[in-house]
Amino acid sequence: MSREGDELGVSTVEDLRPVPVMLGGVRGGPDARTLRRDRWWGSPLVTAGFLSAFIVYSTWAVFQNSDYFVGASAHRDLISPFYSPCLTYSCGLAGGSGRGWLFIAWWTISPGILVLGGPLGFRLTCYYYRKAYYRSFWQSPPACAVADGHGSYSGETRFPLILQNIHRYFFFIALIFNVILTIDAVMAFRLPGDGGIGVSLGTVVLVINATLLWLYSASCHACRHMCGGNVKQFSKHPVRHRVWKFLTPLNARHMQFAWASLTFVAVADIYVRLVASGAFHDPKIF
Ligand code: FES
Repeated sequence: MSREGDELGVSTVEDLRPVPVMLGGVRGGPDARTLRRDRWWGSPLVTAGFLSAFIVYSTWAVFQNSDYFVGASAHRDLISPFYSPCLTYSCGLAGGSGRGWLFIAWWTISPGILVLGGPLGFRLTCYYYRKAYYRSFWQSPPACAVADGHGSYSGETRFPLILQNIHRYFFFIALIFNVILTIDAVMAFRLPGDGGIGVSLGTVVLVINATLLWLYSASCHACRHMCGGNVKQFSKHPVRHRVWKFLTPLNARHMQFAWASLTFVAVADIYVRLVASGAFHDPKIF
């Protein structure tokens, strides 16, 4: 067997015989969904599993309405990213009033629900996540050179998928959240009654969380286009060129930042939740 055949996962010369191309037909011929012999289903399966786990956990966490803040009584100032900014009276009473955000009095259910829309809209319309959930949940298509799971394909030209175009506006909303979560990370250096200012494991968790969120936003395709797109001659726009050159290598790692930041938002919530519930004390590093 040739090296090319090995890479394609075929085992006999017959497997390499040409398959007639049928416009509008099924890839691989009428009897096969695909000619691929590798484990092409692995990536969409893992993606679907991971996204499902995150959706289940984050929904549970947002509706808990408890254990999202660690305050002065525990000598810390830590808030879960799922509940920041602190927008309701109930959140202020839980200890988040030190941040001084607008408090909505009539909202008596979980304040996390108010915060959900911005980050969710940004992730949902993200170019990378669109590819991820179109492949893993909608099978459209599940992988390269594998037949689409649907009989027809209209792309993102019709409602509701045409709304994916608002991603560039969600980018600006996400920047507001990034600033707020960065303030949270700075506030986490406050250790009231435990030396005043210092670094605990919770501080490190919130700083990593904010950093990953900035990297995810800075590597956004819409961000790169807004900074360096629509330019005919970079020589006439040296500042935009410099920003574009800075963002481009980040953009190449957008998928990694997407997964790392998503995972760490959940990690940060779990950490704050465990400390707030008294499961363990947030250790001071220095
Ligand atoms: S493309 Fe993913 S956040 Fe913009």
